[in-house]
Amino acid sequence: MRTTELFLGFVASSPIILLVAAQSAQELINSVLNPPPGSEHYSSYSSEIYYNHTLYNQTPIASTNYDRLEASAKLLLPAPAYDYAAGGAGLEKTVASNRAAFDKWQIAPRVMRPVQPRRDLSITLFNRTLPAPIVMAPVGVQTLFHSTGERATSKVFGELGLPYTLSTASSTGFSDVAASNGAGNPRWYQLYWPSDDDLTRSYLETAKANGYEVLVVTVDTWDLGWRTRDLDRGFFPFIEGVGVQIGLEDPVAHEKLGFNPLASNATMEQKQMAALYHTITTSRGISPVWENLWKLREVWGDSPILLKGVQSAEDAKLASQWGLNGVIVSNHGGRQIDGAIASLDALTSIVEAVNGSMPVGFDGGIRSGADIFKALALGADFVQLGRPILWGLAHEGEKGVRHVLKSLLAELEITVGLAGCSDLGQVNKDLVTANI
Ligand SMILES: Cc1cc2nc3c(=O)[nH]c(=O)nc-3n(C[C@H](O)[C@H](O)[C@H](O)COP(=O)(O)O)c2cc1C
Repeated sequence: MRTTELFLGFVASSPIILLVAAQSAQELINSVLNPPPGSEHYSSYSSEIYYNHTLYNQTPIASTNYDRLEASAKLLLPAPAYDYAAGGAGLEKTVASNRAAFDKWQIAPRVMRPVQPRRDLSITLFNRTLPAPIVMAPVGVQTLFHSTGERATSKVFGELGLPYTLSTASSTGFSDVAASNGAGNPRWYQLYWPSDDDLTRSYLETAKANGYEVLVVTVDTWDLGWRTRDLDRGFFPFIEGVGVQIGLEDPVAHEKLGFNPLASNATMEQKQMAALYHTITTSRGISPVWENLWKLREVWGDSPILLKGVQSAEDAKLASQWGLNGVIVSNHGGRQIDGAIASLDALTSIVEAVNGSMPVGFDGGIRSGADIFKALALGADFVQLGRPILWGLAHEGEKGVRHVLKSLLAELEITVGLAGCSDLGQVNKDLVTANI
């Protein structure tokens, strides 16, 4: 009895009442509590949470608040793994700036608008309609956070039809991630551009063969930043063989090494050498230059190529001039240069410079649905999620990832609606004000 009262109260305060007046009470309750699967009615995740607690005394696997989520992940993870993800370059001023930049903007909602109960968060990106403007940021070494690593994260992004970006520093290979991600789902591949052209060609060909359809070239990490937490411990997962699977599986790398490190008779020394080879060719490389982009285009063909790690309007314009298909405004989560500008602060001038000529993605410091709203209002076409997903992964793998992703989608949908918008076309700069 208590349950019914609680949910009637909950539903009655919702605007749905006005729009579905012809429904019976039972139909109305069902439509809120049990939305059809795949209906992309993300905000119903809150009903699911309240319902599970009321009926089954269950609470979510982790907090719906980022700070508490990170705190519990910290307790679950070995200290080097937690610090590897939480840390940044130097004094970690860029990590802090990425967050502080979101506080410089405040959402100024509009009311009394005819907002539909189901806000349409869909976008069209590279000939695909996506249910929401959210992409998994390329993040390497995910088995540090749970044994299921990339398999779990790619599975959940696939379930929700959101693009999954596989990192060159992945601890799981191209085909295994493609299998867990699921046939037909949008898959992107992030390249750390190897210093050897044969390896580059081979990685790209394998990516294509496994259905990765967008190439993301990370251009801010051709050498590793000064990561003080890892340096103090001497912790570098790649030397320990985590995050090198793409190199270990690559046939051209096998030729160059003169052996297959995954063969049953491979020695420990050979495995270590292969791990080091992948790491050195991809992160102690030479700085990528515009003039070499044709080498990627030659293999990748006309499929989309994006540059990730752009922070200047000039570079964004150059990217357009050099025929790239998009940029991702990112400073690698503050892991590369200490004391750099916040990624959100770089966004506005880049959006202006690009002026609609190509999509602009954004990452760096997104911790909530409201943060996603702000980035979209400031002109990002899509956003990428990094650390929040890793902290979710630490909570029992896919269960935690699903919870975090569903929470962010729910809060985004709720925020879009409460700000007076029924789709993302209405989310623009008029809905945020600078807090100065
Ligand atoms: C543990 C960790 C590993 C990462 N690995 C990669 C990577 O392999 N390739 C890449 O382009 N970016 C990598 N990034 C950067 C993310 O793609 C993204 O830019 C960043 O996480 C955004 O910042 P946020 O997580 O604070 O929101 C990594 C970030 C973290 C935290």
